Amino acid sequence: MYEKFYGFAEKPFNLTPDPDYFFLSSVHKRALDYLVYGLESGMGFVQVTGEIGSGKTTLIKCLLRNLSREVKVAYVLHSKGTFLQLLRMILEDLEVVGIEQKLSKEALLSRFRDFLVEQARRRNSVVVIIDEAQNLQLDVLEELRMLSNFETEKAKLLQIVLVGQPELRELLRRPELEQLRQRITVRFHLYPLNERETRSYVQHRLRIAGSNGRVRFTAGACRLVHRYSRGLPRLINVACDATLLAGFVEERKVFNERFVREALNELADRPPDGAPQVGDSQPAPLPPGRPRARRGILVGVAAAAIVLGLAGLLLATGALAPRASGDAWKRLVDVFRPPAGTGRLEPAQPRGEPSP
Ligand SMILES: Nc1ncnc2c1ncn2[C@@H]1O[C@H](COP(=O)(O)OP(=O)(O)OP(=O)(O)O)[C@@H](O)[C@H]1O
Ligand SMILES: [Mg+2]
Repeated sequence: MYEKFYGFAEKPFNLTPDPDYFFLSSVHKRALDYLVYGLESGMGFVQVTGEIGSGKTTLIKCLLRNLSREVKVAYVLHSKGTFLQLLRMILEDLEVVGIEQKLSKEALLSRFRDFLVEQARRRNSVVVIIDEAQNLQLDVLEELRMLSNFETEKAKLLQIVLVGQPELRELLRRPELEQLRQRITVRFHLYPLNERETRSYVQHRLRIAGSNGRVRFTAGACRLVHRYSRGLPRLINVACDATLLAGFVEERKVFNERFVREALNELADRPPDGAPQVGDSQPAPLPPGRPRARRGILVGVAAAAIVLGLAGLLLATGALAPRASGDAWKRLVDVFRPPAGTGRLEPAQPRGEPSP
């Protein structure tokens, strides 16, 4: 809607986990280091947790994009079903079985084992990434542990990455899961961005969308965005998008703290009837400031709240995210194979600019 006014190729603060916008904060960098280390060392289970909207899915999508071709990955999102359903999804995603094939659990496990042995022979590694893993049932987790028993004398044939909200940590502390817990060799919690990184994050996303410095959030504005969002990227996006919308209505491109405060207050004061919140992760209350009445913005910001709120809820519940299958989620490009433990990434390119 406002892209043209600002000269963006697209909205810079979309709520989709788009790896093109990936910002390598220190915490994301460390998370990638741990992930790459965990996957390269071939030791079994890796656990990644983080608050709602902290960027877990974006991180994984970035990892998927940068894995080499020798890594075969299944990425599954739907994690509330039975083990059999999960197994089917994994094998479909690895293209070991077709969607139509309704094989028994024993037959599926046998196919899986053959596949793993064949990949090991070709020196490929196989990784299963389960997002929203906090939803997994205890018995499903226990059966996943059994999957990790596919191994040779020297190495595991399969690595499993469990990605989830902080409840996953609690779940994995359950005494029934002691055996699984002992097999988790790498754990990482994705903390929110600090104030400085929030500012860099905002600038980064504006740059990727093609702002060329025309659109600016002042230091004070970024401080407020950080306070509101507590450094959670999804809430940073909500705050910045609301500000951009308000700026479009007022025809301005530089935003100070006061302007952001008004946009956020309007977003909070006028929740559209029945509109869901963005995930369960509530924005922090803002410190008091002097409101200035502005007509027009209210309508625009309220509309944005509906769209963002609904999108946030759908994303948080996984409803918007496509079920991982096929090439779209397995864009394993060969450009990046980091030396063990470095997790270096190709730099993001502004939209519309060619890669070097
Ligand atoms: N490192 C990052 N760089 C750029 N954008 C990010 C980053 N991390 C998160 N985001 C943005 O924040 C929003 C939420 O990210 P994401 O969906 O990955 O969070 P999540 O932790 O998986 O949330 P949930 O707990 O709801 O599954 C997305 O719009 C995404 O683009
Ligand atoms: Mg997610």
